Amino acid sequence: MPGMPRLHIRWPVRTELSALVEIYNQAVRNGTATGHTKEFNRQQRWEWYRSHDIMAYPIYVVTYDKKIIGYGSLSPYRKGRQAMRSIAEVSFFLDETFQGRGFGSILLEKIINDCHRVKIKTLIAILLDVNKKSVRLLKKHGFKKWGHFRDVVEFEDKTCGQLIYGLKVGEKNNEILHCEV
Ligand SMILES: CC(C)(COP(=O)(O)OP(=O)(O)OC[C@H]1O[C@@H](n2cnc3c(N)ncnc32)[C@H](O)[C@@H]1OP(=O)(O)O)[C@@H](O)C(=O)NCCC(=O)NCCS
Repeated sequence: MPGMPRLHIRWPVRTELSALVEIYNQAVRNGTATGHTKEFNRQQRWEWYRSHDIMAYPIYVVTYDKKIIGYGSLSPYRKGRQAMRSIAEVSFFLDETFQGRGFGSILLEKIINDCHRVKIKTLIAILLDVNKKSVRLLKKHGFKKWGHFRDVVEFEDKTCGQLIYGLKVGEKNNEILHCEV
């Protein structure tokens, strides 16, 4: 229908794991988005997929004209520590050909808006300090730098640092987006 948004955010189904793995592997190959240096296959990411849950730590799939172009996720921070249950680590990955169009912003806003439902009060993003795009995205959405471990991440061809960005979710007045989940 003309005028209908082409971008949707929804939950994944298990048959879509391969598409998510391929997007993650792009980030692995890129070398500035994750500390992993070896690509994954579907089986290796199954445990990651299974450990997420719509009601607690969701995966958010981004589709454009029904094609999967990215995903975000909330994961436990210091898993198993009851007093840290309301903290989650947020991650986001878009297919390279769909980056730089504002979709990362829409995804992150959607995740922030979903935090109340899944009882998350604090979001933490853990990223490489060379990942300028993600830093910009996080700052734009109210995240502040909470930590910087300098020169601790060693790739074959470079050394970089680890940044921690954080957001107290209730302290930001987020507008509700018209996305489907
Ligand atoms: C990080 C990511 C999700 C951002 O999504 P995106 O759709 O590309 O970002 P947006 O278009 O919403 O832009 C967000 C901000 O980043 C800025 N940005 C885009 N490309 C940039 C670049 N190369 N360098 C610096 N800033 C950049 C945009 O200008 C925008 O800020 P502005 O609105 O103030 O101008 C996406 O680039 C991505 O998937 N990257 C690879 C995976 C990754 O690094 N994930 C994070 C690991 S936790």
